[in-house]
Amino acid sequence: MTDVIFLLNGPNLNLLGQRRPEVYGSTTLGDIENAIIERAASYGLAVECLQSNHEGVLIDAIQHARLNGSGIIINPGAYTHTSIALHDALEAVEIPVVEVHLSNIHRREPFRHHSYVSPQASAVIAGAGAYGYTMALDYLATSAARVLGQGFEES
Ligand code: DQA
Repeated sequence: MTDVIFLLNGPNLNLLGQRRPEVYGSTTLGDIENAIIERAASYGLAVECLQSNHEGVLIDAIQHARLNGSGIIINPGAYTHTSIALHDALEAVEIPVVEVHLSNIHRREPFRHHSYVSPQASAVIAGAGAYGYTMALDYLATSAARVLGQGFEES
């Protein structure tokens, strides 16, 4: 069966390309999703994409991914800084989770410096713009290969 990576984006990320392009870039979410789907295919991986402005929908998606996925790439948007519920949903996940932020949240307002998601993430990427999603996929493809015993030895 094909391994599936879940690409989850939280509130307001549907507005990428329109909202504060000087902070978040001009690439649209559709462009990001298409690029990740295409790159994943080159690794033999499938991608399921979901964007929601609703916390509960994201939690349902995490619970679904937990049972059906090989990895999660998540940009939780502002829920990063507020959601104990997302933290708890991810706590129950055993597949690798990569937290992505387009902007470097650590050089922005203090209320963005804390993430409830990071303690549950295998890796955190912030400030690399849309390229952060590509980095996350490459990491997951590598760790998927490791889990499947097809690729890299742990050193
Ligand atoms: C964001 C950073 C968050 O602080 C913000 O609320 C977002 C986007 C990012 O990708 O840089 O919506 O997650």
